[in-house]
Amino acid sequence: MYQSEIIGCGMYVPPGVVTNHDLSKIMETSHDWIVQRSGIEERRWVSPDVTTTDLALKAAEEAIANANIDKKEIDCIIFAHISPDHDFPGNACFLQPKLGLTEIPAIDVRQQCSGFIYSMSIADAFIKTGQYKTILVIGAEIHSKGLDKSTRGRDVAVLFGDGAGAIIMRRTEVNDPLKDSFVYSTHLFSEGQNAKELWIPAPGMALGPNRMDHEMIEANQHFPFMNGKKVFANAVRRLCECTMLALDKNKLKLEDIDLFLFHQANMRINQMVAQELKIPEDKVFNTIQKYGNTTAATIPIGMAEAVKAGKLKKGSLVASAVFGSGFTWASSVYRW
Ligand code: UT7
Repeated sequence: MYQSEIIGCGMYVPPGVVTNHDLSKIMETSHDWIVQRSGIEERRWVSPDVTTTDLALKAAEEAIANANIDKKEIDCIIFAHISPDHDFPGNACFLQPKLGLTEIPAIDVRQQCSGFIYSMSIADAFIKTGQYKTILVIGAEIHSKGLDKSTRGRDVAVLFGDGAGAIIMRRTEVNDPLKDSFVYSTHLFSEGQNAKELWIPAPGMALGPNRMDHEMIEANQHFPFMNGKKVFANAVRRLCECTMLALDKNKLKLEDIDLFLFHQANMRINQMVAQELKIPEDKVFNTIQKYGNTTAATIPIGMAEAVKAGKLKKGSLVASAVFGSGFTWASSVYRW
């Protein structure tokens, strides 16, 4: 059977750095509160004219160059995000012509913070069945345009940032499963009973005759709402669970893993997961200090930054786990 291999990665964040001190000028918050509760020191925000697919394009171009392929070899695009350029069609369709590609399938995946591992899983399945051979998998987000930046929205607004990451996944044949680079497995979960614990209510077809009205805007329903404590507790629990499940399925021990790349929602969540699983701190790679939570983009940004930092090398065995709105969560083990 065919397997899939990650052959290149790339990332892009917009140049606009927004520090905690900058935020404290527009809402009642402080650098100390944000660092103590989340570990975030700064994040990137785009300028008004920039779109999610603009960020994605730059990350995709870097991934294509890093994989050393001709972009025409890409036979499918899978784009994870929750920040569409427009209501429809999806971001993958807007990105395709920007990349100069045509006719290949352009698919959006809307699984919030879990979207990138869900997309890797879909790409892996496509490649295993032989349907596609070289897939561009992207996670890209613009949050800064959709946050309540007043004190009322501060619990959410301080956490999120803009950015993009991308990988190229390609068909490979595995001769030595202990050495060759390939995706060992992916594991996907969701629990829709908790959909409203972290969500944006409006606009929506569930909301009367026009999807959105002035009352909804006045009630801030077009901004994200989060039950922070419940999300936090579930994130720790599910990240631990699905990391261990991915290891068990592959008969691996924690010591076999060279690098843990977890979702970046809150530094304290990742510290608690590492503590609970007894993972040494230097094996967990975090980017949240610099970029905040970029939802679907956190994992590919982490990959690209870990490569640049020399922490992720050819042959490294990696475990990734993600958790987010839905609730959704997912994990994967892969050899780089
Ligand atoms: O990627 C999706 C997954 N997202 C997550 O995993 C996020 C999970 N949740 C969290 O990370 C945390 O719950 C937060 C960082 C959002 C909040 O931390 P917390 O320790 O749960 O704080 P809290 O909500 O209990 O708030 C404590 C206090 C409150 O004031 P009072 O009621 O004690 O007077 C808040 O109003 O902190 C206040 N507060 C803030 N103060 C300064 C809330 N946000 C802020 C803020 N700056 N930005």
